[in-house]
Amino acid sequence: MGFNLLTICYLIGSITFILGLKMLSNPATARKGNLIAATGMVIAIAGTIFLYEQGGKKLHNYTWIFLGLAIGTLIGTLAAKKVKMTAMPEMVSLFNGMGGACAALISLVEFNHISKSLEPQTLDISAIQPTVLIIVLGLIIGSVSFAGSMIAWGKLNGKLKDFSFTGQNILNLLILAVALSAGAYLVYNPAQHFLLYSILILALVYGVLFVMPIGGADMPVVISLLNSFTGVAAACGGFLYDNKVMLTGGILVGAAGTLLTILMCKAMNRSLQNVLIGSFGGNKTGAVLTNGKDQGSYKEISLADAAMVMSYAKKVMVVPGYGLAVAQAQHVCHELEKILLDKGVEVKYAIHPVAGRMPGHMNVLLAEADVSYDNLLEMEQANDEFKTCDVVLILGANDVVNPAAKNDPTSPIYGMPILEVEQAKTVIVNKRSMKPGYAGIENDLFFQPKTSMLFGDAKKVLQDLCAEVKIV
Ligand code: TAP
Repeated sequence: MGFNLLTICYLIGSITFILGLKMLSNPATARKGNLIAATGMVIAIAGTIFLYEQGGKKLHNYTWIFLGLAIGTLIGTLAAKKVKMTAMPEMVSLFNGMGGACAALISLVEFNHISKSLEPQTLDISAIQPTVLIIVLGLIIGSVSFAGSMIAWGKLNGKLKDFSFTGQNILNLLILAVALSAGAYLVYNPAQHFLLYSILILALVYGVLFVMPIGGADMPVVISLLNSFTGVAAACGGFLYDNKVMLTGGILVGAAGTLLTILMCKAMNRSLQNVLIGSFGGNKTGAVLTNGKDQGSYKEISLADAAMVMSYAKKVMVVPGYGLAVAQAQHVCHELEKILLDKGVEVKYAIHPVAGRMPGHMNVLLAEADVSYDNLLEMEQANDEFKTCDVVLILGANDVVNPAAKNDPTSPIYGMPILEVEQAKTVIVNKRSMKPGYAGIENDLFFQPKTSMLFGDAKKVLQDLCAEVKIV
């Protein structure tokens, strides 16, 4: 009875993970999807705690289990409530690192269990070799994910700087090769306990050295990659315990992380290899890459003129970017949209897949302000519509509207699909200065004849614009 009920709990868990993941792919259903998957996880955990039996015995140690659950829940809830939207990749990285650490710990604990069966009288190495293989894989992948995620977390919150030295990639490959060889030897000869701890240390060092040199702009891609590692490490745990829900969850995370990594690389038109060893976005010297060109001059527009142009427009396309998120100007942006709508102006939003600093950043931001999903256009749709727009209002976006991606083969972002805003009649760019975006490169768009700069913090500028548009 207990076993059957537990199997049903695991089945419910697996189905809810799949449903939840599917629902996460649309902003309208994402919140519900998250809740459904979380409910499935609670059912799977509760089932394991109360129904799991081994040799007719249920789990004990309830005090430890519930103490751990309470501490984890408290930390997770507080962190999720406190985190700013712009710091979300940091938190994802931290939580992902914990997943990797759990997978590595499972491997350490289970190897100790197994090594007890290695007494000379019970020696049947071939019977335990498949288990040792899974333990070693879980240990290596989980440790790399843990160490790498911790470094990514430190870099994203500014505590750690990029660090690289000549020959680092070769050293990294060497460390990985030694760790894998030691792992293979341990599978062949599981009695060599000490190798387990050597593998752990090598994998941790590899995780640190692997992420250290990667440029800041590439961190979300790396986090997504590490996320897929954690998924695979958790799936190893599923194999180890013959636990279907852990296996399903791990595989889903592994697959989703891999797909997201590929999608992000595609959206930036970069290969994974280029992300991992290209050091893109690591230009933290403050120097702006202009490729030696004289950019000419730019013109500014006053608030009153910007309000006038937008009020008399038929169609305005808003292009949100990282600056809108930093300024937390999404609500006032929606406010401006409503005021313009009241004046008969059609307002839409052009969403670039890598605008901001995390996948879906702009969708989440605008959803927070109750902007209708129907008004959000994906890049391809938006590019078809720009030519019918009177005004494009760029709010804290830079790289995702940089024409160098199309026109300048020497540009580091050359080939990245961009929002082709210059097809509209007028382009108004709001940012605080002429400083570059994340890629650290100058933007020709700001110097084009149809572009006007509207300087200032996005929130303040939008508040003032709302007031001005109302009185036009
Ligand atoms: P960015 O190119 O980073 O430009 C953001 C602009 O916002 C800056 O030029 C900045 O100029 C302005 N800004 C900052 N604070 C502001 C404020 N309070 N008010 C108004 N403007 C403000 O942003 P983007 O166009 O969204 O492009 C995203 C970049 O991140 C791309 O290079 C992309 O490849 C990279 N990236 C994204 C992701 C994902 S998944 N989203 C992943 C990896 C990399 P000022 O300082 O002059 O104000």
